[in-house]
Amino acid sequence: MKGLILVGGYGTRLRPLTLTTPKPLVEFANRPMILHQIEALADAGVTDIVLAVNYRPEVMVETLKKYEKEYGVNISFSVETEPLGTAGPLKLAEDILKKDDSPFFVLNSDVICNYPFKELIEFHKSHGGEGTIIATKVEDPSKYGVIVHKPNSSQIDRFVEKPQVFVGNRINAGIYILNPSVIDLIELRPTSIETETFPQLAKKGSLHSFDLEGYWMDVGQPKDFLAGTGLYLNALATRHPERLSEGANCVGHVLIDPTAKVSPTAKLGPSVVIGPNVVVGDGARISRSVVMRDAVVKPHAHVRQSIVGWGSKVGSWSRIENVTVLGDDVEVKDEVYVNGGRVLPHKSISANVEKPEIIM
Ligand code: GDD
Ligand code: MG
Repeated sequence: MKGLILVGGYGTRLRPLTLTTPKPLVEFANRPMILHQIEALADAGVTDIVLAVNYRPEVMVETLKKYEKEYGVNISFSVETEPLGTAGPLKLAEDILKKDDSPFFVLNSDVICNYPFKELIEFHKSHGGEGTIIATKVEDPSKYGVIVHKPNSSQIDRFVEKPQVFVGNRINAGIYILNPSVIDLIELRPTSIETETFPQLAKKGSLHSFDLEGYWMDVGQPKDFLAGTGLYLNALATRHPERLSEGANCVGHVLIDPTAKVSPTAKLGPSVVIGPNVVVGDGARISRSVVMRDAVVKPHAHVRQSIVGWGSKVGSWSRIENVTVLGDDVEVKDEVYVNGGRVLPHKSISANVEKPEIIM
């Protein structure tokens, strides 16, 4: 089988992390976001994966080519010279996606869930339509694509992207399975699957939805990235509890890379991920946060609901909170307070940041 992952866009909402690393390579639970998807596709029997890229392909090629062997898949890069949106990339990769009659998967690269691909194939084959969208329910549907059904049916009546008025709360989870015939509806130009292709398919009565069970999150924004980390760790606690840390200094779900050095007097959790080579000093307190590779959280620092970027340093007795995001190689000096700051790579902060702002 075949799958295409939409990995374009500049990931602006996940800045400052995406200023130095393309969004799909930002580590989620200590592995590049996109590897979670590649692994799940491979598990479902997908052998050809196309990464539709329009931004810094070199870095991605270098990082991801090495996983081909590990997962037993062919990974090819379909590089756009101008951003083709969410549908154009399917047309660009037509040769691969149409190489046989079997349906193919399409994924937004920033969504996490338990990827029920096998169930999705079964369901798709059972209804005979040209496309199936995975649907999930959210409280605020305004930042997503909303699915409106025909009564008592899985058939989609209307698809409304980013609705201004409430039309329902079952939304597009950003995962599809489509027949190759869908590509015939798409032109090779910047075009949106949500606003152009799906409405056409819905009109033909050929688009269905499949309800997702379990957690789901679009982790393309810092607040959602942290919330998604919590959901993922909850699910991990059920499926692979052995991967979580059971240290006496951990509360709730905590994932610690084996190469990290955490002081026994530091306290971690709930919902914390500690990356490779991270150092956490004596008496430090970390909750609902992600600390990326090579970062240092010095003694008695307090990190709350924040992301500490690669190689950054959080000084002794300092406190960062309220969705603060430190980019690559940032230094927060000792005894400094940061409230909701977005700190650009390589900055050093020696004065308090009292209210949420971008520090450049
Ligand atoms: N190759 C390529 N080229 N990929 C692109 C481009 C492009 O020009 N533009 C966006 N993408 C990729 C993004 O990297 C992402 O993986 C996916 O397409 C969706 O783009 P987002 O920018 O993340 O869209 P969104 O989050 O606002 O909305 C989408 O996702 C929601 C679920 O999270 C829509 O599909 C909504 O309908 C959906 O509910
Ligand atoms: Mg998104």
